[in-house]
Amino acid sequence: MANNKTGFSSSFGVVMAAAGSAVGLGNIWRFPYICGQYGGAASLIVYLLFVFLIGMVLLMTEFVIGRRSGYAPEKAFPALAPKRPSWKLVGLFGMFTCFLILAIYLVISGWTLGYFWESMTGTLASIADDGFADHFASFAASTWKPVLFLVVFLVFTLLIILGGVQKGIEQVSKLLMPILLVLVIALCVRSLTLPGASKGLDYLFHPNFALLTWKGILAILGQALFSLSVGMGAMIVYGSYIPRDSNILKSATWITVCDVAIAVLAGVAIFPAVFAAGQDPAGGPGLVYQVLPVVFNSMGTVGTVFAVLFFLLLSLAALTSAISLLETLTAWLADKGMKRNLAAVLVSVAVAVLAIFVAYSFSGGPLSYITLGGMNIFDWVDKLTGSYLPPIGALFTVIFLGWVMKKEDIHDELSNHGVLEISWFRVFYYFLVRFVAPAALLVALLADLLT
Ligand code: PHE
Repeated sequence: MANNKTGFSSSFGVVMAAAGSAVGLGNIWRFPYICGQYGGAASLIVYLLFVFLIGMVLLMTEFVIGRRSGYAPEKAFPALAPKRPSWKLVGLFGMFTCFLILAIYLVISGWTLGYFWESMTGTLASIADDGFADHFASFAASTWKPVLFLVVFLVFTLLIILGGVQKGIEQVSKLLMPILLVLVIALCVRSLTLPGASKGLDYLFHPNFALLTWKGILAILGQALFSLSVGMGAMIVYGSYIPRDSNILKSATWITVCDVAIAVLAGVAIFPAVFAAGQDPAGGPGLVYQVLPVVFNSMGTVGTVFAVLFFLLLSLAALTSAISLLETLTAWLADKGMKRNLAAVLVSVAVAVLAIFVAYSFSGGPLSYITLGGMNIFDWVDKLTGSYLPPIGALFTVIFLGWVMKKEDIHDELSNHGVLEISWFRVFYYFLVRFVAPAALLVALLADLLT
């Protein structure tokens, strides 16, 4: 196979980098508000089912495709099915999805970095409790603030990619992931010791099935895939960097557990605090920018420290995910013969242009008047990347593995050429990939269309 690239140095490196990709804004920014919108624990139960039955299966599938082919998505699919070259379209569809995700990701990461800055300089602490909604609105609608911060964030991301796969991505992930865990646990401890914290836990852990609609189920499925970074080929690229002797099942399990743990911990850090400060838990996308600052301010000076820590946490989590998105697009162009560094710079410039467009189209911004079906460009990109594109990409990916690739090849790859004993293969993997995952993805997509 075509694997003469530098990959990750060890299984630990694989887990840190891929968990870095998985854990991001999806866990800390989106998961709590989706949970809030669709019935607290009810959505948590559905989420866990999707993550373990479909998300993790997809993660292993993308790792298999990546490691076996040694390529980024566009070349990976045809390399594994030489008689069916048109499968490269699935790879290209994934690149399109990654590009859109990276654009909206940069916008939200920019806001986050901006809030980190404002928490450090004391701006946030000087705002009155009822002023945060206005503050966020004017921040996001400003013509220069979102752009400035998103460009700074992108430059950080680009520098790490230019550092290379092992010395850039792997090293940074190994450093940041443990810091992230410590930060989120510290925030949980503070939140749980606030007066009235138990209401938040009740909310998170007591199901309200009345709020769980079909739209909600698709949103949760989309979230499960988005959160594990699967369905758009990003994990195919990281798969192509996995050492030959790494155990794919073990790595995927660790990555999934980390991802779920951080999402739940983020919920535990956020909801009790939201209730303690008498705020609305279903605050939607603005939850962490409009609601949490009120919570921080209600804690006095310690609150300022926690605000700084929280926005730092969110920025770092976003960084390791943005790295994987930029790497995916870079690896794709590099596979097509472009110089790696040039590819990284070109993608960055192109995505920056789209990101600025998306930032300006957010509610209240200079381009927010452009709407389609009542939604502005920001809302569309958020909806497409959050709910629709990953499940579609995922559907074709599992069909490819389950119905196009040879079963023996998949077995060979997952068992490291017969070295590992994989008695779980038939029931817990192959059956899920061939039948359960495609059926569930199809049902969720159709149900959303029909309701
Ligand atoms: N998994 C990331 C998150 O939850 C988002 C992401 C999607 C990153 C796809 C890379 C690729 O925030």
